[in-house]
Amino acid sequence: MAKLSGFIFAVASLSIPAFASQACTSIYNLTVPGAEVLNITSVLQSNVSTPAFPPGPTEGGLSFCDVTVVLTHPGENDTVTTEVWLPLTGWNGRFQATGGGGFLSGIGPAELGPAIVQGYAAASTDGGNIGLGIGINPAAFTSDGPLPGIMADYIYRSVHDMAVIGKAVTASYYGKAPNYSYWNGCSTGGRQGLQAAQAYPDDFDGIMAACPAINLAEALIAIEWPYIVMNNDKTAPSQCVFNAFLNASIAQCDELDGVKDGLISNVTGCAFDPYQLVGTQVLCDGTNVTISEAVATVYRKILDGPKSPSGDSLWPGLYVGVRTDDLYPGDAHTVTTNGTTVAVPFPVGDEWVTYFLERNSSFDTHSITYADVPELFAESVSSYGNDSSNNPNLSPFQKAGGKLIVWHGLSDNLLPPAGTLRYRQKVEELLGGTDAVNDFWRLFFVPGVSHCGGGYGPVPTDALAAVVAWVENGTAPDTLPAEYVNYSGATVNHDICKYPLVSRYDGKGDPKVASSYTCAESFEPAS
Ligand SMILES: *[C@@H]1O[C@H](CO)[C@@H](O)[C@H](O)[C@H]1NC(C)=O
Ligand SMILES: *[C@@H]1O[C@H](CO)[C@@H](O)[C@H](O)[C@H]1NC(C)=O
Ligand SMILES: *[C@@H]1O[C@H](CO)[C@@H](O)[C@H](O)[C@H]1NC(C)=O
Ligand SMILES: *[C@@H]1O[C@H](CO)[C@@H](O)[C@H](O)[C@H]1NC(C)=O
Ligand SMILES: *[C@@H]1O[C@H](CO)[C@@H](O)[C@H](O)[C@H]1NC(C)=O
Ligand SMILES: *[C@@H]1O[C@H](CO)[C@@H](O)[C@H](O)[C@H]1NC(C)=O
Ligand SMILES: *[C@@H]1O[C@H](CO)[C@@H](O)[C@H](O)[C@H]1NC(C)=O
Ligand SMILES: *[C@@H]1O[C@H](CO)[C@@H](O)[C@H](O)[C@H]1NC(C)=O
Ligand SMILES: *[C@@H]1O[C@H](CO)[C@@H](O)[C@H](O)[C@H]1NC(C)=O
Ligand SMILES: *[C@@H]1O[C@H](CO)[C@@H](O)[C@H](O)[C@H]1NC(C)=O
Ligand SMILES: *[C@@H]1O[C@H](CO)[C@@H](O)[C@H](O)[C@H]1NC(C)=O
Ligand SMILES: *[C@@H]1O[C@H](CO)[C@@H](O)[C@H](O)[C@H]1NC(C)=O
Repeated sequence: MAKLSGFIFAVASLSIPAFASQACTSIYNLTVPGAEVLNITSVLQSNVSTPAFPPGPTEGGLSFCDVTVVLTHPGENDTVTTEVWLPLTGWNGRFQATGGGGFLSGIGPAELGPAIVQGYAAASTDGGNIGLGIGINPAAFTSDGPLPGIMADYIYRSVHDMAVIGKAVTASYYGKAPNYSYWNGCSTGGRQGLQAAQAYPDDFDGIMAACPAINLAEALIAIEWPYIVMNNDKTAPSQCVFNAFLNASIAQCDELDGVKDGLISNVTGCAFDPYQLVGTQVLCDGTNVTISEAVATVYRKILDGPKSPSGDSLWPGLYVGVRTDDLYPGDAHTVTTNGTTVAVPFPVGDEWVTYFLERNSSFDTHSITYADVPELFAESVSSYGNDSSNNPNLSPFQKAGGKLIVWHGLSDNLLPPAGTLRYRQKVEELLGGTDAVNDFWRLFFVPGVSHCGGGYGPVPTDALAAVVAWVENGTAPDTLPAEYVNYSGATVNHDICKYPLVSRYDGKGDPKVASSYTCAESFEPAS
């Protein structure tokens, strides 16, 4: 029996009369605590194709029962839509809730398609639409900032409602509660998964939370830092120039781990000095560009992360080895046209300042000075520190038997992996150290991989499958299988080691093969 809470089980088994399963026409009698259900529709969908959202595959020929539930929380002036897709055949007995990205609470078909192909009953929520796409929805904001009810939906409530709805609809449709329930998300989806573990420890048996946008109050203003640097220093390097720094850092630090594989695995050991490139020439778009000291300073400041004018660190920077333009343009995005480069802010950080901190839709983020930065951080933490999904008390989740896998790309171009490390360290302090936490949470830092995938390193192939095996078979993962195709077109396999271990090369095997590595405390060869 799945570890459903008694409460949710009651909703699933009592409020919804068991009716003939496999009929997609019924009106479900659904109770969602704290909410008023406005509308439930069921539509039999046939031969549907879903779009690809990197790195997910495109799916076609899908047939499923599509249940849409619209609800409001009385007094909150919100409308939240949750969609549940129920495969007509081959249900694997599991429920999977999927996450969002940026200010989007759910990505919808691009995540639901791959989930139902694997046999899951799967759900996605619009979270009350604080976002439209990854950017904000102006209708959810006033001159006081986000509407509180919609903010609560985005931060924690809509995922809990989705868990209640998804399990109940699944139980109603198949005539049997799901055996197990899972969370699967990256970025905002990673934050939502950790938020669920913190606030609703019984909602999911297993959680896969990648590159989590936790520490929201600090992380979202930190996204704006490279833009602030480039504006204040009046120096915007082209992405080609950024890549020259990336290449030089790889050349310097690749072999710190004893193997030349094009990846910086030991990011903290890499003492890369951008100033060493000053005066060198880079060929960009057919023109030789000479790297200036000003450009090296911008690169240094971006890796250092946001600082006060007196030099105090306000949040970690992106790690050395970051590929600034990737699947998603990152924090250090620039656009070059006819030889002129301009800095372009990442919308999530830019709108965080505009709508959440300044609360002024005509605010000009180009005007932010270095002197403003500590005030913006202070405002962000005082207004949204409690909405940051970084409560280290995962004890209730552990006691409920929950299992958690988090991975974070070391080359993430949006959210510094060091923020995830800080959270992990707080959890370890509270819950008795690394081994105690590894009992229910395994963390994996992935070299060369960017935000939710991409980059130039081995991407975890199926982290959710590892969660499922842990929950259902008790096999706690010491490694996560990962794969990529390198610059020379060769397929490379790695097994990513669980934190705090690292992948140590055996000194002789093919660096492209996982069996040439073991998990160890240090990259140094065993003596
Ligand atoms: C729906 O469930 C509620 C609570 O169990 C019950 O009072 C009500 O009669 C049900 N309605 C229908 C149409 O079955
Ligand atoms: C429920 O939603 C469907 C589809 O949008 C719509 O046709 C129907 O009128 C709605 N019913 C109610 C009671 O709002
Ligand atoms: C399913 O959809 C595809 C693409 O839209 C189409 O080519 C195909 O004929 C459809 N198959 C059926 C059985 O309707
Ligand atoms: C409710 O929200 C809508 C937009 O989401 C807004 O236009 C309206 O003014 C709000 N009403 C109240 C009472 O807050
Ligand atoms: C759910 O678990 C039960 C055992 O509790 C098992 O008999 C059943 O096959 C599982 N259902 C599915 C669809 O896997
Ligand atoms: C960086 O290295 C990549 C891969 O070798 C290469 O394609 C690119 O041209 C290099 N960029 C610069 C600016 O040297
Ligand atoms: C990373 O490199 C530094 C500097 O060479 C070294 O001190 C450190 O031990 C390395 N880290 C690991 C885990 O081996
Ligand atoms: C760039 O500089 C290199 C070395 O200084 C030179 O060989 C090359 O011809 C130059 N290319 C262009 C396009 O100016
Ligand atoms: C870039 O240069 C080309 C050729 O000189 C010109 O046609 C084009 O308008 C320019 N684009 C911009 C954005 O300045
Ligand atoms: C909003 O920002 C604009 C542009 O920076 C500024 O002119 C205006 O005074 C600000 N409005 C308020 C209410 O602060
Ligand atoms: C944050 O939570 C703490 C502890 O519950 C509370 O004292 C404080 O008022 C909250 N801050 C805000 C801004 O809601
Ligand atoms: C659990 O272990 C059995 C036996 O090794 C295997 O067949 C099954 O696929 C495993 N299930 C999961 C979810 O890993």
